[in-house]
This record gives sequence, structure tokens and C-alpha cells, in this order.
Amino acid sequence: MEVIICDTQEAVADRVANYIKYLINKKENATLGLATGSTPIKLYKKLIELYNNNEVTFKKTTTFNLDEYYNIDGDNIQSYRYFMNKYLFNKIDIDIDKSKAHFLICLEGENPNLIGDLYEKKIINAGGIDLQILGLGSNGHIGFNEPSSSFMSKTRIKTLTQKTIDDNSRLFNKNEYQPNMAMTMGISTILNAKYIILIATGENKSDAVNRLISGAISSKNPASILQNHKNVIVILDEDASSKVNNIDYYLNAAKENKKLQEQFGYFHELK
Ligand code: F6R
Repeated sequence: MEVIICDTQEAVADRVANYIKYLINKKENATLGLATGSTPIKLYKKLIELYNNNEVTFKKTTTFNLDEYYNIDGDNIQSYRYFMNKYLFNKIDIDIDKSKAHFLICLEGENPNLIGDLYEKKIINAGGIDLQILGLGSNGHIGFNEPSSSFMSKTRIKTLTQKTIDDNSRLFNKNEYQPNMAMTMGISTILNAKYIILIATGENKSDAVNRLISGAISSKNPASILQNHKNVIVILDEDASSKVNNIDYYLNAAKENKKLQEQFGYFHELK
């Protein structure tokens, strides 16, 4: 696991956007796994800037969103499809082929098991995910894989914990319906990605970040399983990194890695 600590949230967004640019310029038909939530908004803004400057094109990119609330239509302003259109896809509209942007919409009456299985097949048919972007829940969730989720899990429906419902209530109006279930890629689906970049910003993530990097690997803390993935980069701002043990080691390693990567390139496993 590589840990990169940036001065500000803007610098985090910049760094991740540049990884994505590098990846797409290396493999133009790359498949990206994308996350929603507050954390990646600055990243998407940065990607739009790169796109407008003709530094990157998404013409041949396929995307899979990590998760989606259950029984929320894709046009609903609370849906993650709406979020992606608002923060990224509509701004690069002339470029992205939306039939290659996949979402996990599952409405009442539809069988979540079949939708989950189909999503898995679509990911396989696309050749797997080259780079998965993740945020981090303050309870250690990745996607909506809540504590106690199986490390073997595939895309499926999950009931959200009260902690996640409370954390996300800031995004819903007082009388608005807030779902307590969601479709999510499973932990094993996430681990199948060739590369993973997890982003965390803000002091409120600092405990979860420390447990992710140096806590015991346990289904009680789903993100901890990323310690076992061979190509994970955790990119933090200073606030989110404030409780990382042995921080000097990571600062030093990041400097050394940067030198090597500038010389030999990134994403060496991608052809
Ligand atoms: C969103 C997702 C979630 C969020 C996490 C952090 O697609 O999968 O795991 O990444 O809940 O959310 P924010 O960024 O809002 O703090």
C-alpha cells in the first residue's frame, strides 16, 4: 500500500486527476470504477479542467459506479447517476459515450440479485476494472460494504448501518425520503480491480484512515482488506492523515516512489 499525503484537498484532487489522465493516455479504452459522495467532487472538477484543456479524452473510457441507493430512480436528484451527470458526465457530454457509463439502479419489484449478477458480468465483459476510485466511510466502509461485509462479496444489495445513514443525512432535506438500503459492488469485486486509489480528506476521516492503513484486517473494518491488494494508493490531505502511525516513513517512501515512477512510469501492469 502506497500512502501519499498532500497539503490540501485541491492537491489531492490534482494528484488523483493526474493519475487518471496518465492511465487514460496509456490505455485509452480503460475501465474506471467511480465513487460518489463529497470526497471526489474536487477530483471530478479537476478532470473537467483537464478535459477542457484537451489533456485527456474520455471517448473510449468505460465507467462503473460503485454503488447506488436502492429504489431511487436515476433521474432523482439523490441518485448517484444524477450525481455523476451533474459533477462529471454532463460537463464532458460531447465526449463520453453514456452507454459505457454503468450504474446500479434497482427499483422496487426488480430483483437485486439479478441486477448484481448482471453488473458482475458487465464488468467482466469490459475486461475488468483498471482503476477503481474509492472514498472511505467514517465506519471503514468502502462502497456500501458496511462493517461485517464478507471479503468474498460480489455486487449485491446491502442494508445501511445507522452510522452511514446519519453521516449521509446531511445530503437530504428534513422531510425527504432517505433510503436505508443500497446496491454496491462487493468487496471481492473491488479487490479484482487492477489498481485502486482510495481518497480521504478531512479530520473526520482520520480515525478510519489510521485503521485502514495499520489496523487489523477484519470484516469489522472493510477497508482494512485493501492492505492485501497489491496495487493500492491511498491519497490523503493533511487533516485525514493526522492520526497515521509512522507518518515519516510514508512521507519518505512517497518521495522515493515518485522519483522511480517519474523515471519508469505508472500502472506498469496495464497493457
Ligand atoms: C460512494 C461510496 C461511499 C463513500 C463514503 C465517503 O460512492 O461508495 O463509500 O465513498 O461514504 O463519503 P464522503 O465522500 O461523502 O465522505
